[in-house]
Amino acid sequence: MSVSDILDGKLNENEVEIKGWLVTKRSSGGVQFLVVRDGTGFIQATIHKDEVSPKVFQEAEELTQESSIIIKGVVKEDKRAPGGYEVRVKDLQVVHLAEREYPLAKKEHGIDFLMNFRQLWIRSPRQTAILRIRAEVVKACRDFLDGRGFVLTDAPIFTPSAVEGTTTLFEVPYFGDKAFLTQSGQLYVEATIAAFGKVYCFGPTFRAEKSKTPRHLTEFWMVEPEMAFCGFEDNLKLQEEMVAYIVKTVLEKRQRELETLKRDITPLKKVEPPFERISYTEAVEMLQKAGQQIEWGEDLGAPHEKFISLQFEKPVFIHRYPTKAKAFYMQPDPQDPKVVLCADLMAPEGYGEIIGGSQRIHDLKLLEQRIEEFGLPKKAYEWYLDLRRYGSVPHSGFGLGIERTVMWICKLKHIRETIPFPRTITRIYP
Ligand code: 4AD
Ligand code: MG
Repeated sequence: MSVSDILDGKLNENEVEIKGWLVTKRSSGGVQFLVVRDGTGFIQATIHKDEVSPKVFQEAEELTQESSIIIKGVVKEDKRAPGGYEVRVKDLQVVHLAEREYPLAKKEHGIDFLMNFRQLWIRSPRQTAILRIRAEVVKACRDFLDGRGFVLTDAPIFTPSAVEGTTTLFEVPYFGDKAFLTQSGQLYVEATIAAFGKVYCFGPTFRAEKSKTPRHLTEFWMVEPEMAFCGFEDNLKLQEEMVAYIVKTVLEKRQRELETLKRDITPLKKVEPPFERISYTEAVEMLQKAGQQIEWGEDLGAPHEKFISLQFEKPVFIHRYPTKAKAFYMQPDPQDPKVVLCADLMAPEGYGEIIGGSQRIHDLKLLEQRIEEFGLPKKAYEWYLDLRRYGSVPHSGFGLGIERTVMWICKLKHIRETIPFPRTITRIYP
């Protein structure tokens, strides 16, 4: 029986066995109070001197923090216990007595210290809550897309070319040649749509981001749906439905974790389609009116996104950015070729961009022209140009950053806690 089943009141037996780790221990009179973690939750266990053998009581007294143990006992409802239940231990088996001086035993540590011990820190209630929500977000993305007939077609990680600009490429030696770690699987799902119609890829992506910010990782996970015969508006519709589904699923299934994080869920409950849409030009006007530094034509930075995000209760799309500020593959707006048919989705509460998406250029000549204008090596894109030579169709897609989404849903100040082992410009250990 798992701790989460006990806490959920799904108790179908009185006698339980819990395999887990000792989180904390204190004793009072003839009773020892343990907090035990089994991977599904945290529960209090009490050992009464007159209810166990002297050997068991003695071994319990010698237990060190993080020792792995198996306890057998009887579950009792107890209002005073955290979670409302406790296990009255009848028997205890020590699987491994942990070394003394657990590095994270003290309560207060700086972030660098904690990150250096990330292998241990991930056991804490707060970190497990975040990572469980992450797992739920990933599952929600996949369930949503699978349920709508999208086929998972994963993209390679070693690639010959850039997707999102050449300045953030990681170069790796490749048998006398060179390769790049992928920045996005997009170009490859643009290929698989002609085989399946609706597809997505889901995997790690890499950016040599030189800026040290609370929302940039050098390695992050992205889910990237792509649809054939799909225009700009239908693409936005899918995004708002998917984001609403993700949030609803987390609210339903990860209530306890959100409570652990003390997340105020009122703003999350408002995340229902449709989301507001404003143009880049409107966004720039709003920013200028508020006295922010920005000229039409510049890409929006983190402070700009934050400002816009705070003006809305729900996520908001900013669409039709200037052609020059965005990627080479984006379809120009037929009404105004200075801008492209793209949209970034801003999460509310000041979080900013969690999705980047667009309609893609489907015309061969125009795409060739853009590749040249952006100074990209045409040879590396020949295969991609083939997609415009053989059965080209209007198509659209987007990329949702898993860590940015988790950061917002959990309302975290920094992205580094949203992934088990974060990679940033200054961190590659552990
Ligand atoms: O806006 P981006 O660069 O878009 C693309 O890569 C497109 N090719 C996706 C597509 O259309 N298939 O990145 C998409 C999302 C961002 O909105 C953000 O959530 C996340 O990926 N992202 C990052 N997350 C963490 N750290 C970074 N350095 C990130 N860069 C982008
Ligand atoms: Mg973007």
